Amino acid sequence: MNVLVIGSGGREHALVLAIKKSKSLDKLFCLPGNPGTKLLAQNIELPLTDFKSISTFCKQNRIDLVVIGPEQPLVEGLSDWLRANNINVFGPSSEAARIESSKSFAKWLMNKANVPTAKFWEFTAEEYGKAVSFISECDFPIVIKADGLAAGKGVSICKNFEQALEAVNLLSIDKIFGTAGNKFVIEEFLEGEEASVFAITDGESFITLPAAQDHKRIGDNDTGKNTGGMGSYAPAPLVTSELELEIKEKIFEPIINQLKFEGYPFVGCLYAGLMIAKLGVKVVEFNCRFGDPETQVVLPLLEGDVLQLLYSASIGKLDRDAVRYSGGCAVCVVAASAGYPDNYEKGYEISGLETIDPEIIIYHAGTIEKNGKIFSNAGRVLGITSVLKENDLKKAQEKAYEAIKKISFKNMYYRKDIASKALKHF
Ligand code: AMP
Ligand code: GLY
Repeated sequence: MNVLVIGSGGREHALVLAIKKSKSLDKLFCLPGNPGTKLLAQNIELPLTDFKSISTFCKQNRIDLVVIGPEQPLVEGLSDWLRANNINVFGPSSEAARIESSKSFAKWLMNKANVPTAKFWEFTAEEYGKAVSFISECDFPIVIKADGLAAGKGVSICKNFEQALEAVNLLSIDKIFGTAGNKFVIEEFLEGEEASVFAITDGESFITLPAAQDHKRIGDNDTGKNTGGMGSYAPAPLVTSELELEIKEKIFEPIINQLKFEGYPFVGCLYAGLMIAKLGVKVVEFNCRFGDPETQVVLPLLEGDVLQLLYSASIGKLDRDAVRYSGGCAVCVVAASAGYPDNYEKGYEISGLETIDPEIIIYHAGTIEKNGKIFSNAGRVLGITSVLKENDLKKAQEKAYEAIKKISFKNMYYRKDIASKALKHF
């Protein structure tokens, strides 16, 4: 099979690495890829918005499967375009991708399917007065979210009226999220601990992968601003086997059925961001794709053939036995540019990237190669990941931190407590 992976982050490096292991793989391409994927696949330079050139490339190179990593091309309809050109895609249609691109759509769908989630109220940007009167009477904390995609910045957790008013002003008056803020959702605040679970689905049947936990905040002990994710580990002991069953029965089964019933079956990876509390589990959000940096720890734990899994889903015949998890654990620590998620400097040479330890994977994310040297090129630069055969998260944590100490670039920053939360559960 010839395969094209779309995207350029750590998640796509992990997808390329997993697909590379398949016996049925012939040629592997990555668009645009990064210096990490370049070692495993042929990186292609084409604009991600140029759908026509992408489908022409697929035809010319007899691509059997396109795997789309990020949400943006999914939301913009790349999978629809490729399918209309008879190219197999792992990734949902733009209509199904609304489960991520519209909070209001996701909430409506969850309510229809009876999927447990926070109570919510919806407002348009024009309904400023109504929204202000609502927040002047509600209990705090509450959560205010722009309806559309806002690069992870559209969510405000408001502890009091002043904070809520500021969030509503930014959305309704200042319109800082542009059209993504044309509507917004006010939600009940959920207490608990978060976990990410991925379901791979052909639109009808599905399997779930080992649960992971992301670390969204920039600072240790979950302090400071939200980021794209500063580290992850899997499997998350928080998600017990009983809870996993509940997540399948009460969340994935009804939502996948509802999407199909509404006429937009979801083919791809459906990511459930969950809040786990004593009284049960609720959905914080759905994403229409693999998570980053969760994919970096989930995929290396799978035995079997990831390409077969993705391909079978793409043709509507999910192979439920293509992969299995039978032990092991992984911890990924993101090395970022200091200052991220706000302003940061980039363009610094990275040293220490060579590793011969089979238990360490260094995923590239925001890196760039110039004259054979690798430089930092974004906020999240690398994902230093330990993968163990045994399920010993403490050891995996130690190994990941030992490995990251060998890597350096100017202004490198990383959290020192990735996976510490997991250890509390033992
Ligand atoms: P989202 O973009 O919806 O995933 O929100 C980003 C982050 O905000 C989540 O990962 C949570 O940490 C937090 N969050 C979002 N909604 C809620 C909620 N209803 N209750 C508590 N925290 C939330
Ligand atoms: N790790 C969070 C996300 O991928 O959205």
